[in-house]
This record gives sequence, C-alpha cells and structure tokens, in this order.
Amino acid sequence: MKLTREEILKYIDMAIEVRENAYTPYSMFKVGAVVIGDNGNVVRGANIENASYGLSNCAERSAIFSALSQGVKKIEGIVVVADTTGPVSPCGACRQVIKEFATDDITIVLANLNKDYKVMTMEELLPYGFEL
Ligand code: THU
Repeated sequence: MKLTREEILKYIDMAIEVRENAYTPYSMFKVGAVVIGDNGNVVRGANIENASYGLSNCAERSAIFSALSQGVKKIEGIVVVADTTGPVSPCGACRQVIKEFATDDITIVLANLNKDYKVMTMEELLPYGFEL
C-alpha cells in the first residue's frame, strides 16, 4: 500500500502513543507498533517483557498477533517506533513474522521519537527470508 507523508506521520504518532503502554521493567526499552490490516483495521501493540526474559514479546508481534486475533488476514502496513538515534531496526524474529502476513506491497515504516523515518519493502527488511 502507498502511504502519504501525512498518513505516515499520523501512524507514527499512534505508535508513539501506544509505546507508552510497553511493559519494560527489565530493558527499559519501549517500542510501539501500528499495523494496518487488509480490512482497514488499525491495530496497535507494545512490547511486553517477563521476569523470564525469553518470554518477552516485541511490539511488532504484539500488534500483529492482536490484529490477526481480530480478523485481519494480511498486513498492508506496519509502523514501528522506538527511542533510537535513527529509525528503529526490528529484530530478526519480527521480520520473519511480518513476512508471514505481509501483502505483496506492504509498506514498512521504521521511525524514532523525533519522527525520523525510513520506508522499506519486505524484501529490503528481510531479504531471502524463510519460506516453506
Ligand atoms: N523489541 C521490540 O519490541 N521490537 C524489536 O524489534 C526489537 C526489540 C523489544 C524487546 C524487548 O522488550 C526490548 O525491546 C529490548 O530488547
């Protein structure tokens, strides 16, 4: 999907807002994500950590799993925000999960709190990703 600069900034604002819901007593690193579903649904997520560190869930996967749970089948866009110097770089696991549900022309927006952002395709974010 094609997003205008105005739409991108609106979704970055939403991601910055939901980022405040992150539960991060261990890393103190908050991340917010907004998913735009193929049915027009816009679903938000934040990272949720656990005392058993490995059970922590990234913001991207929180948003994606919530969207799928609410009936979204494919993801047309995802916007991710964190407090990083440049646009945030999603972890490898989330890249693979995004790929599972991405439309062919998904728009991926990576941003920071200054609203510096980078727009990427799936292939740019995860070249040669795993497929069965
Ligand atoms: N985190 C995300 O939410 N998304 C990413 O793409 C990378 C990492 C979270 C996981 C953990 O709660 C914190 O950031 C520090 O790794």
